[in-house]
Amino acid sequence: MRHLMSPLDLSVEETDKLLNLANDIEKNPEKYAHACAGKKLATCFYEPSTRTRLSFEAAMLNLGGSVLGFSSADSSSAAKGESVSDTIRVISSYADICAMRHPKEGAPLVASEKSTIPVINAGDGGHQHPTQTLTDLLTIHSLKGHLDNLTIGLCGDLKFGRTVHSLIHALIRYPNVKFVLISPEELRVPSYIREDVLAQNNVPFKEVVRLEDALPELDILYMTRVQKERFFNEEDYIRMKDFYILNKAKMELAPKDMLVLHPLPRVNEISTEVDDDPRAVYFKQVQYGVYVRMALILTLLGMEV
Ligand code: CP
Repeated sequence: MRHLMSPLDLSVEETDKLLNLANDIEKNPEKYAHACAGKKLATCFYEPSTRTRLSFEAAMLNLGGSVLGFSSADSSSAAKGESVSDTIRVISSYADICAMRHPKEGAPLVASEKSTIPVINAGDGGHQHPTQTLTDLLTIHSLKGHLDNLTIGLCGDLKFGRTVHSLIHALIRYPNVKFVLISPEELRVPSYIREDVLAQNNVPFKEVVRLEDALPELDILYMTRVQKERFFNEEDYIRMKDFYILNKAKMELAPKDMLVLHPLPRVNEISTEVDDDPRAVYFKQVQYGVYVRMALILTLLGMEV
């Protein structure tokens, strides 16, 4: 039995295989329509979500399976003090696979240690969000045709943005990938990512504050919102929240084939006037999230189609 806590739980070969499976699902959805008949997915979400929870549910329904779960800590017995370890032991009796989101870093890992079903980390605090990364990889691979030889700009809240942390971990395994880390001083990537992941692996990167300076050299611009829920005080959040706003004028500085991704939700960091630009692919990205979660469910359940 396998869990998914980090993108590194899948080797590059396994990741590529999963992305190929997701592409096949996109092309031949009917082939997979009953692949998980009789199987149940539990979504245990202790933190708000639109995309991750509903795309997991859509994925399992598309595979012919069923879903159950809770969408907030308040509507589960966590509100009465139940631990994630006890909860997953219970859920293991009800479902075949579980996607768990939790505000505390490491909570899905703790759950996986007591689980008798595969547990998928659907986002743990400011730490990791591996299924968003699989979504991002599938989007880039499908639209660019490759995951190597890319210059990727990561912009916004690089300190608390778990999607950025997971994406860096995953992409450094592909040849000739360079990063431009675009953030205010206060929201730079944590030092463990800068030193232990990027520098340690000799991955070229630079840190800049101005988005305008980075745009001309990018193949991918990955925008992120400032993570309000991780700030200790409202004042700092208000000061930071509109630091970056991608608009039509800034898009003029970018290459004609640059792609703009965003894990969403968007707040103000991308003006809606950018949405009609063919380079803005953040809503396509959402659809890729369903295909890749279908592929992941099939893979972790060991279902051959
Ligand atoms: N991208 C993402 O994780 O969105 P949700 O918080 O809506 O799940």
